[in-house]
Amino acid sequence: MTTMIDVDGSSATATPPSPQHPLSSLTAAEIESVRAVVQALPETTEWTRFAYVGLEEPPKGEVLGWERGELPLPERKARVQLLDLRSARSTDLVLSIGSGAVLRETVLDGTAGQLPILDAEFEEVGVIANADERWVAALAARGLTVDDVVLVPLSAGHYGYPAEEKRRILRTFAFQQFSPTDHPWAHPVDGLTAYIDVADRAVIEIIDTPGFEIPQTSGNFDDPELQGSPLTGLMPIQITQPEGSSFTVDGEEVSWGEWKLRISFDAREGLILRQLSFAGRPVLYRGSISEMIVPYADPAPNRFWQNYFDTGEYLFGRYTNELELGCDCVGDITYLDAVLADELGAPRVVRNGVCMHEEDFGTLWKHSDLFTGSSEVRRQRRLVISFFTTVGNYDYGFFWYLYLDGTIECEAKLTGILFTSAYPGAEEDGSPYPFASEVAPGLGAPYHQHLFSARLDMTVDGVANVVNEIDAVRLPISETNPYGNAFTKSVTPIASEKQSGRVADGAVNRVWQIASTEKATSLGQPTSYVLFPTETPTLMADPDASVSARAAFATKNLFVTKYDPAERYAAGDFVNQHPGGGGIPQFIEGDEPLIGEDVVLWHTFGLTHFPRNEDWPVMPMDYAKFTLKPYNFFERNPTLNVPAPASAHCAPGHGAHHHAEQDVHDHSGPAVPGHHGAHGHEAHGGHAARSHG
Ligand code: NI
Repeated sequence: MTTMIDVDGSSATATPPSPQHPLSSLTAAEIESVRAVVQALPETTEWTRFAYVGLEEPPKGEVLGWERGELPLPERKARVQLLDLRSARSTDLVLSIGSGAVLRETVLDGTAGQLPILDAEFEEVGVIANADERWVAALAARGLTVDDVVLVPLSAGHYGYPAEEKRRILRTFAFQQFSPTDHPWAHPVDGLTAYIDVADRAVIEIIDTPGFEIPQTSGNFDDPELQGSPLTGLMPIQITQPEGSSFTVDGEEVSWGEWKLRISFDAREGLILRQLSFAGRPVLYRGSISEMIVPYADPAPNRFWQNYFDTGEYLFGRYTNELELGCDCVGDITYLDAVLADELGAPRVVRNGVCMHEEDFGTLWKHSDLFTGSSEVRRQRRLVISFFTTVGNYDYGFFWYLYLDGTIECEAKLTGILFTSAYPGAEEDGSPYPFASEVAPGLGAPYHQHLFSARLDMTVDGVANVVNEIDAVRLPISETNPYGNAFTKSVTPIASEKQSGRVADGAVNRVWQIASTEKATSLGQPTSYVLFPTETPTLMADPDASVSARAAFATKNLFVTKYDPAERYAAGDFVNQHPGGGGIPQFIEGDEPLIGEDVVLWHTFGLTHFPRNEDWPVMPMDYAKFTLKPYNFFERNPTLNVPAPASAHCAPGHGAHHHAEQDVHDHSGPAVPGHHGAHGHEAHGGHAARSHG
């Protein structure tokens, strides 16, 4: 044990107590101790900032060995990324929290990516640009001063410009703001972009394309005048659970129905779901959004470079919202705080960062039998675990749903403000500008995509799994198919990593099955889960575009790799200004065999967005999702034991003719045979109101 220098200088602090579980998020005390270790490092200066602090997870084998009682609790380690704001010295460290020892140190030389962008750097951009005469002159040529505009600095990407080599570059746009409460997104100052070195504090280039008008339309969606008189007639909807919710939370451990899991929160990936098991059987060791890319389609000289890796470049977990009861989540809500480190390394608590609640989800199963008179219905419900993060103009929600029947879903929710441009007007032949929508007078919204990479470290009944691609197959008329009605399915194992770049195909109902190679049902089928993708386009950029190399993960809907604890992010560790080829292309380079191995799925899902008028001035929620369903994981429907709804009307057998007498007994009014025979749900609702209202 080492003593550490207390940052307040008051006293030395001891090693913080280890959490009870090796995958627990870093505690505030652990973050404090990490900061103290860093402050004592000889290379730390007054300009040293913490770009990232998070748990360095023990390898899976160590965690599972510890759970089996075969291995000790793994050592607690932190991963820390440090940026010196002035020298741009960038280091990636792994520290022992117990001893304070530096276990690994990588100094980035800037040729293979930079550390993520810090808030401190975003804040500097305005100061740097406004001190540059060329920038001030370009604004003046548009009738503007630096006080009229706000700057929107963005990640630079990588275009091989020698002047940008090994430098920390941001590119910035300006937006005019008519007043402090005026939303500047409505008034892009198009045709003007500055390229800035934030460490050298210098504008290295200004791209000035005159001829754009600044759109004058209002984007003030929060202005009562723009909102109009409130819509009337909306009655309150209240969700109540008088006996509380059905899940329990113990630290980061959650139990609900047959589900057990751990949840944690990370500055980069946001919410992480861990060690999901159903009825004691492992399903998913770790699930998270490992990366995302928002590539824009407009090739204009001022904005061809627009594409944002919100996870790897910006660390979207840092921008997690503090959620408010009754606003962001309704019902019987449990919140968890997210504990992160700020850029000075101090613990920062995001209150109510993660929201958990149950939702009724309609009918789970139902049948009214023609022959037996049996009539049964059960209701589905789901456990919802979510967070919202605001990254610049967009607000993203990530919602994980666990269902009673073993289904897992992940849904991205997209709202906020469109990224805007000055609409250039129609082409010479009168056709609309081909790369942006005009969503309000003179206001453009460039076409773009939102592509998310879910990293799904599967453990379906253990770590020995195989991924099969399953397609529906149409069969021609033949001797064995004389009437041509036959169709079947093909099941193709993805045998090695290089075979794994797969694309969704709705025309053949393509799904990917993650099957155990060790466990089987009593019928001899491998137990499995199936990933149901949503068929939407992968990355639309040309394969030779810079972004295609940098976001290789997004060129396919699925890659599969053999588990490697170092492979955590789909576009690699250092995404900011990375020239490309990081992440997935490196992970599959070794072409490891995948059959019967510990597999990790990298699933790209998302939206291709051609903005519409209705998305302005604030976007109604849009959605993108995927589903994991048990497939021969169980011997039968695993929800037969779900109790019937509490209402006497939904009791087993209710509605059947031979139970009519019981109905008479149960209810104040006489049963109407025809009514029950018809068994209309609405009719029952009316009946319930009369009997029990
Ligand atoms: Ni969009």
